[in-house]
Amino acid sequence: MTPQEAEKQIATLSEKISHYNYMYYQKHISEVSDYEFDMLLEKLIKLEEEFPQFKKIDSPTQRVGGTITKDFETIPHKYPMLSLGNTYSKEELEDFDKRVKNFLGLAETDEVNYVCELKFDGVSISITYEDGKLVQALTRGDGVQGDDVTANIKTIRTLPLKIRGKDYPKSFEVRGEVFLSHKNFAKLNKEREAAGESLYANPRNTASGTLKLQDSSETARRGLDCYLYFLLGENLSHKTHTASVEQLVEWGFHVSPTYQTCKNIEEVLAYIQKWETERHQLPLDTDGVVIKVNEFAKQQELGLTSKSPRWAIAYKYKAESTATVLKAVTYQVGRTGAVTPVAELEPVLLAGTTVKRASLHNANEIERIGLQIGDTVFVEKGGEIIPKITGVDLNKRPVTSIPLVFPTLCPECGTTLKRKEGEALHYCPNEKGCPPQIKGKVEHFIQRKATDIDSLGEKIIDQLYQAGFVKNVADLYDLTHDQLTSLDRFGDKLANKIRQGVEESKQVSFDRVLFGLGIRFVGASVAKKLAERFETVEALQKASLEELVAVPEIGERIAQSVIEWFEDTDHLALLARLQQAGLQFKQEKKVITLKGSQLEDKTFVVSGVFQQYDRNAIKAEIEAHGGKVVSSISAKLDYVLAGDKMGPAKLEKAKKLKVTVISEDDFIRMIA
Ligand code: IVH
Repeated sequence: MTPQEAEKQIATLSEKISHYNYMYYQKHISEVSDYEFDMLLEKLIKLEEEFPQFKKIDSPTQRVGGTITKDFETIPHKYPMLSLGNTYSKEELEDFDKRVKNFLGLAETDEVNYVCELKFDGVSISITYEDGKLVQALTRGDGVQGDDVTANIKTIRTLPLKIRGKDYPKSFEVRGEVFLSHKNFAKLNKEREAAGESLYANPRNTASGTLKLQDSSETARRGLDCYLYFLLGENLSHKTHTASVEQLVEWGFHVSPTYQTCKNIEEVLAYIQKWETERHQLPLDTDGVVIKVNEFAKQQELGLTSKSPRWAIAYKYKAESTATVLKAVTYQVGRTGAVTPVAELEPVLLAGTTVKRASLHNANEIERIGLQIGDTVFVEKGGEIIPKITGVDLNKRPVTSIPLVFPTLCPECGTTLKRKEGEALHYCPNEKGCPPQIKGKVEHFIQRKATDIDSLGEKIIDQLYQAGFVKNVADLYDLTHDQLTSLDRFGDKLANKIRQGVEESKQVSFDRVLFGLGIRFVGASVAKKLAERFETVEALQKASLEELVAVPEIGERIAQSVIEWFEDTDHLALLARLQQAGLQFKQEKKVITLKGSQLEDKTFVVSGVFQQYDRNAIKAEIEAHGGKVVSSISAKLDYVLAGDKMGPAKLEKAKKLKVTVISEDDFIRMIA
């Protein structure tokens, strides 16, 4: 393909994909099948890899991530990000209304129009568009300066990389809230549970952590979303907040449809009441209502105090709580042997759902609350999905209440439980003999993201275990037709299907097999990283702690767990059997094709926003011409490749250390 053809194809594909994206995420219409969409995207990724010079800063391929950011650059906000005053009662809101009128010189009987929006419980973000393209996204930080999380923000599918239409100012900022929907949060935690990783506490903190991940492809995988509620810039013509929000919708931004204009404070109060319960049906957590004076002229007049605007205020809902009776505490043993206490409650209605169970986390928690069976307990549902018990109503403790004693033996296999130094959880150490642990490991191994043997499920695994045919995952590969058909309700058809599924699992890639082994803390994405970096199971086995922690996203805890896993001789025997059976334990290496050697032995730091390339593409271009990209500026560095909006601190450091600073045009000339 000639470069001209490639350029044209990249442009048409980008436009098509962006259009389908817009239709799907903003209009909820799928014009193509998922498969067709993926094919188009894959084609574009390939073309851009081959011709990075044509990759645009607003290319839809950035939705899938791939950028690795070691340190997030801190950059000053053009306009500070303020916070809001909080109120908790009707009276405080009426006072706010009076203050506003007073300041504007209005009579008490005059009316001020307000806009009510829900207060989304996410992470605030400020995003800059230039010439209609998303160029930079900063977190709130301390309000004066924030972290550059552009690569991660670009993975948010509902956020336009390019503004729809032609009518927009040269430069503007939008602000809003990044969040993880309940659905995606639950999905992520389910995966973590399967990998034996600790669960995330709530969607808000998880969204915040996800925005700061080094690897944007993991951010993409988790599926963040973003609601916008603020437009900022010079020479904007809108007269009211609602007009600017409508403008945002027109440009293709995701605006929550829950906002409402209110003629006066009474309507504001009605809005607050209406959403107090209805908000629980929304896909994300909300913790209050934000009330804004609608007219910009009035906002201007009201101005700001030292930390928040006088024209807006937040009303916070009380965390919902109720009382019910604790009937019993049960103990669940997971795949990793962790024993978690679960409170069995008298069913009760809370925040729109019936609650029957609540997590008690661990023994410390039970002790802290001082629980006894028969107690009346307070149950709360805040930012968390799983309700929690916050306390006991001691006045209601019946004489028949029974003190809780954490079991010393495993409820499943009778082994004495252990508690690791510094850990709150009790573990059943009988890893190789405790039924839920054995079955759990097999279930983990056959799941879709691991070896995907979908003809097996929890029930059949239990049957196979009870019959003594399967005690570990390697046993699956020795299952015979006769063994299978000897089981209750098993015919030839099911037996064949299972044996076929087991056979097909031998083609599954190394990273998925690795994930399937169920090494503690090695989830699907960590397994991918490890497989990419070490390529073979032998190399992974030999890796030192230092080599392991040098892989992005892998910390000491994961590294230690990998090392321990390979030290167990039973694990090595299992591995040998799986290798013997023919499963995949190596992965092909990615190769960089050199296009030139103009930059041989030269080191670069890349910073800021570029016109012709996105940051990832410009780094790939450096490497394709023999250069190396590093993350921090030192005297040994050859060049700082500076785009627009590069942080002033970095520039200063480069100047101080006398490192040559070059522009994008200089760079293009260097490789020409
Ligand atoms: S307007 C000048 N609208 O609440 C204030 N903020 O305490 C601009 N928030 O940092 C904020 N939902 O992160 C506004 N509909 C909404 C909001 C909202 C959530 C957050 C935001 C801000 C904090 C203010």
